[in-house]
Amino acid sequence: MFRASLSSLLSNPRLRSLRPLPPFPFFAPSLPPILSFNASSSTPPTQDPHEEALNEDGAEDLRPSVKISIDRSGAYNPPEHSHVSSSDSELVRHLKSIIKFRGGPISVAEYMEEVLTNPNCGYYMNQDVFGSGGDFITSPEVSQMFGEMIGVWSMCLWEQMGRPEKVNLVELGPGRGTLMTDLIRGSSKNEKFTKSLHIHMVECSPTLQKIQYSTLKCVDEDSPCENTKQTVSTLSGATVSWHAALEQVPTGLPAIIIAHEFYDALPVHQFQKASRGWCEKMVDIAEDSSSFQFVLSPKPTSATLLYLIKRYKWASIEELNKLNQIEVCPKAMELTHTIAQRISSDGGGALIIDYGHNGIVSDSLQAIRNHKFVHILDNPGSADLSAYVDFAAIRHAADEASDNVTVHGPISQSQLLGFLGINFRAEALLQNCDEAQAESLRTGYWRLVGDGEAPFWEGPDEQTPIGMGTRYQAMAIVNKKQGVPVPFQQ
Ligand SMILES: C[S@@+](CC[C@H](N)C(=O)[O-])C[C@H]1O[C@@H](n2cnc3c(N)ncnc32)[C@H](O)[C@@H]1O
Repeated sequence: MFRASLSSLLSNPRLRSLRPLPPFPFFAPSLPPILSFNASSSTPPTQDPHEEALNEDGAEDLRPSVKISIDRSGAYNPPEHSHVSSSDSELVRHLKSIIKFRGGPISVAEYMEEVLTNPNCGYYMNQDVFGSGGDFITSPEVSQMFGEMIGVWSMCLWEQMGRPEKVNLVELGPGRGTLMTDLIRGSSKNEKFTKSLHIHMVECSPTLQKIQYSTLKCVDEDSPCENTKQTVSTLSGATVSWHAALEQVPTGLPAIIIAHEFYDALPVHQFQKASRGWCEKMVDIAEDSSSFQFVLSPKPTSATLLYLIKRYKWASIEELNKLNQIEVCPKAMELTHTIAQRISSDGGGALIIDYGHNGIVSDSLQAIRNHKFVHILDNPGSADLSAYVDFAAIRHAADEASDNVTVHGPISQSQLLGFLGINFRAEALLQNCDEAQAESLRTGYWRLVGDGEAPFWEGPDEQTPIGMGTRYQAMAIVNKKQGVPVPFQQ
């Protein structure tokens, strides 16, 4: 009975039609009056005459039953003001010492980078942050179908590349390694493809590297080169290596590069229009020294001159006129440049999937702890920070980097997965499901492709899955020789 009802869901024309994106949740761009706010106190501190403290409004194994938890694409929600005082963690001490040493505040980008990836105490470095026991959930953790569909995309690109004998399959920010595992399992029947793969995981966190090693069922063995060892995934026999950055992945082989929820973790600068012109939002130590607060730079910073002007160049007049705040992610532009040049010289393509907007992002930086939005400055290092991805900037950066690449999309995640065949995969998986697995499958399916609350949800209201299907966007950058990648021809 359930299968019949799921079949009708899967054949629902809503999933097949290409729908326009819903309005992007721009976040109150109007400038607030100059008031103060910090993460742990509601008492206005005395202001430095030069800095304005800002008002912050502001294989067929079915995954075990899917837990309903927050994905990171949710619209920024001003959190409750936290009045809990925190004892200084190693990261807080480190941030304060940078600010004191500099003799002034640091940029939001520097704050974000330290908080997420400081080698000793960054958020990602020493813990597993995913799933119901962590802070947020991502698509590969929702359902095996996600990684399997990315496998379909990779195989299609490999076919378009002329089935090369050796390929670098690179994943940027692989989290627990779930996507890569499902990709390999899902494509195992195409032996020529799996045999061609050299897997490269670009991951900064030693803790997550270990988890990825175990998820991919890796072993260390003697390599054909004398006196050296290599790591091999027993799932497919492919070699696996880890790198801190894409630049460290060896060149010379065509590359398939996957970046799922990687760009959103790259540090953003935030700029705000003030009466004196565009200034940069900065992070300073609060007056009472116990926490941090946002301040506005007294004049344009060097980042304002460099990055804001660059982003301005790519924007339309209409876009610019309505903006009082702009986020710019120079690391995203640099990474795109590296990807485009790699693909230009080695061949292949990249698939970028993330939540974002096909144009300038205004003010999206958000913090999530234990599946709830919290203040960005509250207890740094204990919550994930992420920002919406500016896909238009990625397109411009790739176009600038090389004439040998083409950029496709963005299209919605729902469109991407739909055209890659997720409905057929769901139907196939249902053939071997018990009732509990079928329910888990259905929940996962709707979370991946739904565009809001799942319309035919029959479970408890409080567990209604919220879809990631339209908030997440997919963009491909490919070598011109490969033609238009699947499914961007649609
Ligand atoms: C939001 S998680 C996404 C994980 C995974 N792609 C998924 O969808 O489940 C971001 C991943 O990127 C890694 N990461 C973040 N910043 C990085 C950086 N600058 N260099 C390398 N890895 C980074 C994190 O450790 C983590 O594995």
